[in-house]
Amino acid sequence: MKYHIWTMGCQMNVADSMRLASELERLGYRAADTPDEADVLVVNTCVVRQSAEDKAYGRLMALKGLKEQHPDKIIGLMGCLVGRKMPSPLAGRFPWVDVFMPPATPEPLIDLLIGRGLADEERSLRDALQDGDLLLPERERGKLVATYVNAMQGCSQGCAYCIVPYRRGPERSRPMDVILAEARSLVEQGVKEITLLGQIIDRYGRDLGSGPDLADLLRAVHEIPGLIRLRFLTSHPLWVDDRLLDAVAELPKVCEHIEVPVQAGDDEILARMKRGYTADDYRRLVEKIRARIPDVAIHTDVIVGFPGETEQQFMRTYELLAELRLDKVHIARYSPRPQTLSARKMPDDVPPEEKERRRKALDDLQSQIAAEINSALLGRQLEVLVEGKKKNRWYGRTRTNKLVFFEDDSRDWRGRLTTVEITWAGPWSLIGKV
Ligand code: SAM
Ligand code: SF4
Ligand code: F3S
Repeated sequence: MKYHIWTMGCQMNVADSMRLASELERLGYRAADTPDEADVLVVNTCVVRQSAEDKAYGRLMALKGLKEQHPDKIIGLMGCLVGRKMPSPLAGRFPWVDVFMPPATPEPLIDLLIGRGLADEERSLRDALQDGDLLLPERERGKLVATYVNAMQGCSQGCAYCIVPYRRGPERSRPMDVILAEARSLVEQGVKEITLLGQIIDRYGRDLGSGPDLADLLRAVHEIPGLIRLRFLTSHPLWVDDRLLDAVAELPKVCEHIEVPVQAGDDEILARMKRGYTADDYRRLVEKIRARIPDVAIHTDVIVGFPGETEQQFMRTYELLAELRLDKVHIARYSPRPQTLSARKMPDDVPPEEKERRRKALDDLQSQIAAEINSALLGRQLEVLVEGKKKNRWYGRTRTNKLVFFEDDSRDWRGRLTTVEITWAGPWSLIGKV
């Protein structure tokens, strides 16, 4: 029996799809080479913006035809489009979907397959695994180099524009021993780099009372033999503290890479977004991170065209990014989402063409900054963890998460750490020689 999973959205969905694949592999299922061959098809969805939601509907409509031709195929819908309400109110709208799964919840599909007798004898494998262990798809075992582990579920921050808390529920930290078991099982299957995930990863443990925090979690995962690198995302500016920065600075496996979204550079917009900090707070944070962690790469997210954003307010975001010169900026055009405070109370009054103009202005600025930052790396020797090969070129990442390509046929580089001398630098990638 074969399965295929389409994964849309963020790294959290990638991790959730991996957990689902792991459960299916335990039932004896294997990943299909092409979707056509699959007996079980799952769409793991994102709704962070309307465009993402539309993409999920597009995929679902394509699966409607398939289900009519092959009624025996099992169609699953998972993730943030489904949300947490069960039985799913979407069932009436998409009658060709056999099973609905909330984010990070593969159980409904697994129960359906077992209930219909569609799990084969390899299910016994399940008993051989410890709770919390994660079984990589057969074709990725020993090959997958870098992957994600969810350290937290949900979010309770309630930023005015954001649908995530409504679909993923309140913040819940996973117990440290469960995260460690998952990380260890991945390393045993060949993984060399782990990124710990949470919507506000720097709040790890704060919902567990006086338990461990993110610095403790990093220190514990750091001890796993065979693990080479460790990252974490996403940080919220309010919760990055000295203990965390000390852990990043002191632990050799923890990479100098922090993702800390600013969202806007204007204080009034930040207040209406309910972010809880000012542009100056963010400036000071960047200064502090750079002082404590030399050569750190800082990534951020920005939303343009938030309700009521004037040209002047937008320019404050532009100027902040021009001043801080961060390594990577993910720019999104504001999209009103159901249930959120901004969608309910604030008219979406920046026209689409104007949102696009602002997006493009930031994109041009950031391309120039990234090209300048990267060209300073020309001639430098950087440590690269090689992840795989594409069209004759090996590719991997630096500790600061920059993508590096090189050509070399002398050996199989996958999963190895090597030093690459940079010979070409563009805004989005580097080329070098080993
Ligand atoms: N928890 C992280 C944070 O605090 O930024 C990430 C949340 S969200 C899954 C990822 C990014 O999507 C956000 O950083 C934000 O820039 C963007 N985003 C969220 N809601 C949006 C909306 N309604 N319109 C446009 N972009 C949005
Ligand atoms: Fe959404 Fe804000 Fe939570 Fe991030 S911190 S997931 S933007 S509510
Ligand atoms: Fe999308 Fe859900 Fe992630 S809405 S961005 S898949 S948390």
